Amino acid sequence: MALKIVRLHPKNRVLGWIEERLPWLSFVSAHTATYYAPKNFNVWYLFGALAGVALVNQLFTGIFLAMHFKPSAAEAFSSVEYIMRDVPWGWLIRYMHSTGASLFFVVVYLHMFRALLYGSYKKPRELVWVLGMLVYLVLMAEAFMGYVLPWGQMSFWGAKVIISLFGAIPVVGNGLTEWIMGDYLPGDATLNRFFALHVIALPLALLLLVTIHILALHEMGSNNPDGIEIGDSLDAKGVPLDGIPFHPYYSVEDLLSTAVFLLVGAFIIFFAPTFGGWFLEHDNFVEANRLVTPEHIKPVWYFTPYYAMLRVVPAFLGIKLWGVLVMFAAIAVLFFMPWLDRGKVKSIRYRGQGYKVALVLFALSFLMLGAIGAGVFAQALPHWLGHDVDANRIETWFGRFWTAIYFGFFAFVWAYTRFGLEKTKPVPERLTSHA
Ligand code: HEM
Repeated sequence: MALKIVRLHPKNRVLGWIEERLPWLSFVSAHTATYYAPKNFNVWYLFGALAGVALVNQLFTGIFLAMHFKPSAAEAFSSVEYIMRDVPWGWLIRYMHSTGASLFFVVVYLHMFRALLYGSYKKPRELVWVLGMLVYLVLMAEAFMGYVLPWGQMSFWGAKVIISLFGAIPVVGNGLTEWIMGDYLPGDATLNRFFALHVIALPLALLLLVTIHILALHEMGSNNPDGIEIGDSLDAKGVPLDGIPFHPYYSVEDLLSTAVFLLVGAFIIFFAPTFGGWFLEHDNFVEANRLVTPEHIKPVWYFTPYYAMLRVVPAFLGIKLWGVLVMFAAIAVLFFMPWLDRGKVKSIRYRGQGYKVALVLFALSFLMLGAIGAGVFAQALPHWLGHDVDANRIETWFGRFWTAIYFGFFAFVWAYTRFGLEKTKPVPERLTSHA
């Protein structure tokens, strides 16, 4: 269902003059008022727009933070304290940015899960998915570098642990680590380059990728909870019978969900901005000190599933690199989802029982690995089972189990669909439920 751009001729003379030379109103209209979206979108379809809202919030608050932040190892920490205490409304801007980052990931994870529910990554939307994955990669780099900037204990030690991972690469590893840091330890050079990447290079890349992500989606048309192509049933004018114009129907809905999102966000920002240490760790309110290692070094929650894999995968045949490889493979394998899943039926509504069970287990593995990476079980187990248990050992084995489930999902989906084991339900020709 290719997007049609119909040339508009606004009556207003100035707008008409511009439109003749640069048809931007025609472009906007093609992507809103005459972009036909399936009429059965449900709550899962709100998160794309909310991810856009979260992105705008990060850009906007980031600009104001950059006005007061000092990107040097000597001044960064105190400049953040200055923002929190002395800059008018600085505390609010800072928390909107730091808490906003976590909310961004909440929304993006739900947005990605929707794609797994309804097969939105499948033909013809493979490119939409791959572009989304690139957005996700850049977003992770952006968040990681942002976390280093306030130069707290976790900024410093987190950066050290993660950048040192590159040291596990044979031959070039140590040189690479030094090249990334610009020093032997995270220092002034690291902070300066991370600042440059965080405030300009990566946000530009994000904006560009998100724009192409949406253009690619609009070219193919949106998927929906039934996983049926609405472009296959058109009326005499070529308009999808099961489609409604994005504007005003979904623009109003997105406006409402934005209001709810901002309300929930405001509640968290005002009453629990650090979310008990999950959004901003307590250790990061202590200035970076290269002589004192924090008791538990761990990343923010949105990285902990991958961090758990890094920690639980053992060195094998004397090679330490496995944990790093498994961690990167966990992200890389997601890129290939459109080609691993060969099932023709998109939506979970009509897919086989096996896919449903596998998806639930996959989601559970991500949550469990997240908790393991955050050290939840290592802390809780002695309370549950007594202090003489080896909590770290149990947690490691538990982590290995869930890592196997995580990768098992992809292997299962491939075999299940490749060898025709999936028993699907008949897919209706037209949408079944109407919003
Ligand atoms: C800054 C981050 C992102 C923004 C602003 C964004 C924005 C959007 C928007 C506005 C839509 C259309 C509305 C909707 O379907 O919810 C959409 C659709 C989609 N996005 Fe994203 N997205 C982001 C990240 C991602 C990521 C990380 C992935 C997955 C790897 C992804 C995969 C998809 C897919 C597959 C669709 C089509 C869904 C369908 O038609 O069923 N997006 N995105």
